Formats: sequence, C-alpha cells, structure tokens
Amino acid sequence: MKRYNNHHVRPYGVGLAYRYPVHDQALAHREEIDLLEISTEDYIVRERRFSGDPYEEKLEEALAIFPSVAHGLSLSIGTVAPLNDFYIKATRQFLESHELTVFSEHCAFHSVDGNDLTMFLPLPFEEESVQWIKQNYDAIRGQLERPFALENVTYHFPIPKGSLSEAQFLKRLTEEMDCTLLLDVTNVFNNASNHGYDPIEFFEEVPMERVSQMHLAGGHKTPDGKWEDSHSRPVMDQVWPLFEEAVKRAKNCEIVILERDSKLDPFDSVISDIRKAREIFYSIRPEKPKPKASTSFETVNSFPAPGAPQFEHLRGFQRCLMAMITSREYREFFESNPEAASAEFELTDKEWIDRLKLCDDDGIDKLAYSWDYIQKDDAAIEEEYRKSEWEVWADILSKEDAPLT
Ligand SMILES: [Fe+2]
Ligand SMILES: [Fe+2]
Repeated sequence: MKRYNNHHVRPYGVGLAYRYPVHDQALAHREEIDLLEISTEDYIVRERRFSGDPYEEKLEEALAIFPSVAHGLSLSIGTVAPLNDFYIKATRQFLESHELTVFSEHCAFHSVDGNDLTMFLPLPFEEESVQWIKQNYDAIRGQLERPFALENVTYHFPIPKGSLSEAQFLKRLTEEMDCTLLLDVTNVFNNASNHGYDPIEFFEEVPMERVSQMHLAGGHKTPDGKWEDSHSRPVMDQVWPLFEEAVKRAKNCEIVILERDSKLDPFDSVISDIRKAREIFYSIRPEKPKPKASTSFETVNSFPAPGAPQFEHLRGFQRCLMAMITSREYREFFESNPEAASAEFELTDKEWIDRLKLCDDDGIDKLAYSWDYIQKDDAAIEEEYRKSEWEVWADILSKEDAPLT
C-alpha cells in the first residue's frame, strides 16, 4: 500500500539535505522547504542509524510531510574493484521501503583495497575511466531498477595529464550512460578557485541540459587559500551568481538542495540560504514543467570485471595512489623507486606512473593527514557506537518483555 500519496515521484523546488538533529526546525519551516534530500547512509549504515534515528520515527514523519529524494555516499563508483553487492541491495531496499524514486551518487572514488578515505578522489579524466564507470553504472542501475544522477565533487588535486577536461569527462559520461547530473555549484566554485579555471567556461562545456538536480553548500578557506567543501557555513557570496547562471542554463533542473552538515544552529542561517535559493530558482523557473516521457534502459544483470585488461592502468593507478595516502612507508618507497613501487600493484605503464609522480604533493599530504586522523578517531567512534547500539537493543528487549495488552 502506498503510504506517501506518490509525492516522492517527481519532487520540484528548493529543499534541504535532511539531518535528524534539525527535524523539528525543518517541520516548523515546512512552508519554505519544498522537499528533503535523505542521506541513505544515515539509515543503511548500522552505526549511523543506531546513533541517530534507530526506529526511523523521525524519518517516517518527515517523509509523510515532505516530497523527498535520496542521496548516497559510499558507492565509490570509480573504484576498479568488485561492487559492494550488500550496499547496493541495502540501498534498493531502503528506496523501495520508503517509496523514494529519485536517487543520486558521487562521480568519484574513495575506497580501495579495503581502505575507505571517506573523502572523494577524482577519477583521471580519461576514456578508461569513462568506460569503467559506464560498466559500473549500468550494473548498478539494473540492480536499483532506476537511473540515477551523478554528482561532481570537490577534489584536492586533479589527476595529472588527463586527456579530457573535467567538463568534457562529465559530458562523455552522460553520453555513454544516458544519465543525468547532479551539479554541485559550490563544488564547481571550489574547484575553479582552487585549480584555476573559469566556472562559466565549465558551464559552457558541461552538458547543462543533463543537469536534473543541483546542490548548494557553504565551505571555508584554509590557511593556504584553498576552499574546502565543509558544509558547515552559509553559502559563500561568490557562489550565488554562479547558481543563478547555472539555473538559467540548466533548463531541465527541477531540484535544488541546500547541504549543511554541521553548525546547524541557529537554523535561521540555514533557512535564509533556502530563501535566497528559492528567490533565484522561482524567478527563473516559476512553474514545474510538464513531465517528459521517461526513457527505458536495458537491464544489465552481470557485474563488470575489475580484472579486465582494459582497466589495468586505472586499477593499478588507484591502488598505488591509495597506498601513497595510507602508508608512509609505501610513499617513501615510491619516492625512491617509482617503477618498483608501482610494479607492486602491477602498474608498469610509464605514462600512468608519470601521473603518480606528478600528483600534487601538498594534496597527498593533506589526504594522508586526514587518513591518520580518521584512523585515530575511528577507535573512539566505534566505542561510542557500540555503547549506543547496546542501549537501543536494551530498549527493544525491554519493550518485547512488556506484557501484551
Ligand atoms: Fe553529495
Ligand atoms: Fe553536494
């Protein structure tokens, strides 16, 4: 039985990335929030669920009030490795059980050889990456039984010697996969500022007609002058004109989401960003367009083969790069003998080894520092989750023990 009156089928307007700590504030501002974006991780990753809204009571209430879309975080679609079957099944189950139809994920990789950086790394902007993502995308779309949008991410450094620009890379992906894009306008601003390109030229090159959703978020500038995608502040002043330009150009975009992960109090600063985004969005796109005929897709039931020879360079490159980030010893080994170090991961192609040599040292330093921090942090977080999980189980058991009435 449908519980939500089909209102998740085609949400329209400007909404908020839902986080359960602001549940009450979101409800109090329901007139100004057109839709919510639900982070699937908060409900399918055991620890996150138990530490937040374990019985999904708040989520159910929010879904009953707001049309909603879903956003994933842990797919690592760009990693040349077997797909995480469990994660995809759990995502599908979550979408189905909550009648959510619109889904998106990130066009990046972050997890290699069991190490999850939890920060996005960009793919080399190369045809080999396009072909790998296409195979993964087709398989995942078949499993989820729906197309989904791919989001551009902020990255510390672009992979050197790409034969395509980022915009050309995204264009190739959408052509190959016939998919839509989630354009994170703040990420465009961050990358353009940090890596020295013109965001308007990016808009010229990227297939804006493929943009189905947009994100806005606030970040901060680090002491070295780079913008970080921290989702902790109001949207930067420089991003608003870019957003306006993007809405004008992306004529098929129906959804805009404001992302804020921390410093959600006072909520006024969150809602004022939503008001601003609504003003711009509705001045350009006052009415919901008529639905377009949906295109069918072929279901692919087999998962791609990460061991296939056509992906060996990308696979070896990713494994070496991740080892450089996660192991000081390996990085020293690579610096003293790049050929021997790369050969450990079966990477022997000179051009791809050169790419590794040319990767931005400061960028790798930052990622290595974050990796060390996550490692230390993980033990404490794990302990905290374990405690809250036991509390929840104790609560469930005490209810089960209660006499039936
Ligand atoms: Fe995202
Ligand atoms: Fe985003």
